[in-house]
Amino acid sequence: MSKKKISIIHGPNLNLLGEREPEHYGNMTLEDINTKLKERAGELNIEIDIFQSNSEAEIIEKIQSLTSDFTIINPAAFTHSSVAIRDSLVAKKIRFIEVHLSNVFARESFRKNSFFSDVAVGVISGLGPEGYIAALNYINQSEKISR
Ligand code: DQA
Repeated sequence: MSKKKISIIHGPNLNLLGEREPEHYGNMTLEDINTKLKERAGELNIEIDIFQSNSEAEIIEKIQSLTSDFTIINPAAFTHSSVAIRDSLVAKKIRFIEVHLSNVFARESFRKNSFFSDVAVGVISGLGPEGYIAALNYINQSEKISR
């Protein structure tokens, strides 16, 4: 079987993890999370590409250029606002898992609306960095891999 290729996309302000609202997002930096992801991907023999941007346009351009089998995305604040990022995922028929570090359902009511959840394969919210690892484990055992 050929090696699975997965893209991870981190949205705005996730570059501030570690210092940003630790009561919601914990103490790990984005680099710590990415290191965990790379370690797990190595164990699973999965190729991963990791991208972070604070810019909606850059995230859309990244999505339009994806050639991976599956994507894990934390759209961060764009979750609740970006029809444009949603449209790019749908247009490119990207199979993706939506991940949130915090439990968005236990916070302000505007966070309960996601422009992504109904077109995602699945949603993980509130498990901290483990949510990304759970998504990776799911993709690893998933038979139906197609973009
Ligand atoms: C987040 C939740 C969003 O509501 C918020 O805007 C973020 C991070 C999370 O990972 O819990 O930036 O996506």
